Amino acid sequence: MVAKLFGQTPPHPSSSLLDPGCGEGVFIEGVLRYCDARGWRPPRIVGVELDPIRAETSARRFAGLDFVEIRHDDFLRSLVEEYDYIIGNPPYVSIGQLSLEERGEYRGAFVTARGRFDLYLLFFEQALRMLRARGRLVFITPEKFLYVETARALRDLLSKYHIEELHFLDEATFGELVTYPLVTTVRAGASTERTTVRARNGSLRSASLHTANSWLPLLDDDGGEHVGVRLADVARRVSCGVATGADSIFVVRSEEVPKDIAALAHPTISGRELSDSMIEKTRSRMLVPYDATGQLLPEHALSALGSYLGVPHRRARLEARTCNARKPWYAFHDSCALSEILRPKLLCKDITASPHFFVDWRGSIVPRHSVYYIVPTVPDHLVSLASYLNSREARVWMARNCQRAAGGFLRLQSQVLKRLPLPSEFVPPSHVDVEDLAGSAVSCA
Ligand SMILES: C[S@@+](CC[C@H](N)C(=O)[O-])C[C@H]1O[C@@H](n2cnc3c(N)ncnc32)[C@H](O)[C@@H]1O
Repeated sequence: MVAKLFGQTPPHPSSSLLDPGCGEGVFIEGVLRYCDARGWRPPRIVGVELDPIRAETSARRFAGLDFVEIRHDDFLRSLVEEYDYIIGNPPYVSIGQLSLEERGEYRGAFVTARGRFDLYLLFFEQALRMLRARGRLVFITPEKFLYVETARALRDLLSKYHIEELHFLDEATFGELVTYPLVTTVRAGASTERTTVRARNGSLRSASLHTANSWLPLLDDDGGEHVGVRLADVARRVSCGVATGADSIFVVRSEEVPKDIAALAHPTISGRELSDSMIEKTRSRMLVPYDATGQLLPEHALSALGSYLGVPHRRARLEARTCNARKPWYAFHDSCALSEILRPKLLCKDITASPHFFVDWRGSIVPRHSVYYIVPTVPDHLVSLASYLNSREARVWMARNCQRAAGGFLRLQSQVLKRLPLPSEFVPPSHVDVEDLAGSAVSCA
């Protein structure tokens, strides 16, 4: 990080450097070592630390150096002074750890204090205010600000600077702490220049980040304009499983399904249950009031299912769903495209530490809302797709591109999965092939 701050250019003797949230001074120590190794005179250094014990430790550490000043102060409430260099590892403190007064105060003082913000976003904003023209800032933070909606204001702010580099670090950088760290290097001043992106696999590319929208699509090898094959090119469906809005009514243990509604009861599986053996022998069935084309059956055509769902306590539960205010009382929360779902497909948990794709060979399973499913356009791709999606390469891509849920888990989303680049052996089927295959797959389902 110090090398990113100075490069090969010695700091001017009259220049100044800030380390906000300096802790016990490890970054300041790094700056001194870097300058010393090159025979450079260090700049004037200011460290700001809120914690009195750390501030004291830091102050003692640099006591003999008159060009280093440690301030026991609140960086977010400090006076704005300008610095040529800013380097730091800001605190990661989510809104839940702040008092109501602090939240209110920050919302009034920082454009980045929006939604469920985190203090590191505010540290970025405050540091950018303090960055002198042509100055440089290097921060290590979680990578989340690149894509979460909460960080839109920060992306908007940063897009007006020259983001020289985004360097994705190994997940193990902070030991036990589960974060996905990123080192961001920013140069003050507007610029149309591209950003160098160092991916976790060591590859280098460049991206243009002059937008407040999520930066993830722009960080692909090709800046979002990948010319090779992506998952969307070979999958007729990349989708979240069925949301009934009332699984407690629509999902029934297999042995408890009344015989007269068995034809409308499909094997179903939840994300938690996913495994090869459970796919072979699912425990429950989903009662589906939709026809093969995905149309909701008219009430009179429900026959025995209508009587089953219409039992007063079940009907009351179904009618209590606010999501269904303008739909028939027995409709699912979302529509249910059975003709697409009942095909050989891949299944994966929607939120998971490490995605694993299972094969539903028979294509008989209706996945629940906690399962993502992928239907290859060419059924022959089922095995090769499963094997590629379970490869290290695909996992690394997912780890870098999928949103993070609590606890560092990955959250699968179809718009992200669809962009997953595939090796060149996957050839998208031509339009004519697709028509042919669609016909045969429907009859097989
Ligand atoms: C992630 S630690 C980094 C410490 C040090 N830079 C390092 O890398 O070892 C963040 C530091 O910011 C300090 N901090 C938190 N809120 C602060 C604030 N409002 N003003 C100044 N320092 C703060 C914490 O006490 C903590 O020492």
